[in-house]
Amino acid sequence: MAIRNIVKEGDPILTKVCRPVEKFDDKLGILLDDMYETMLDGDGVGLAGPQVGILRRVFVIDIGEGKIEFINPKITHTSGVQESPEGCLSCPGEFGITRRPMYVTVDAQNRWGDQFTLNAEGLLAKAICHENDHLDGILFKEYVIKKIDPSELKD
Ligand code: NI
Repeated sequence: MAIRNIVKEGDPILTKVCRPVEKFDDKLGILLDDMYETMLDGDGVGLAGPQVGILRRVFVIDIGEGKIEFINPKITHTSGVQESPEGCLSCPGEFGITRRPMYVTVDAQNRWGDQFTLNAEGLLAKAICHENDHLDGILFKEYVIKKIDPSELKD
């Protein structure tokens, strides 16, 4: 595994729409392993392909309950609302209160190409929305309803 360089806001890579993953091979496994290590190293709870310069529909999430890998994800249902602090490893030092769905249902493939469906709520739902947006070139700032000073975050 290796820690990859995280693409920062301002780089046009973060504005691109990603293409689907077509090959479920060793290279994909290495990418996912590297992305997870890079995410942990950056103290994040999620990381998407374009954030390491790979314009493919893939992201990893771990909100402290174990790693989940999403390939070619599709959010099929959302409901409820949550307003909570959010940041992004591509926008260091910037945080805001976002408005996101409280519940999401997502269909995706795992690293072997098997389909799964996940019902998520709370932080996991927020992370799925955030990472899925990266695959369409959208940053969390689009959802910020109030900016916050990092010193206001007490955890
Ligand atoms: Ni992000």
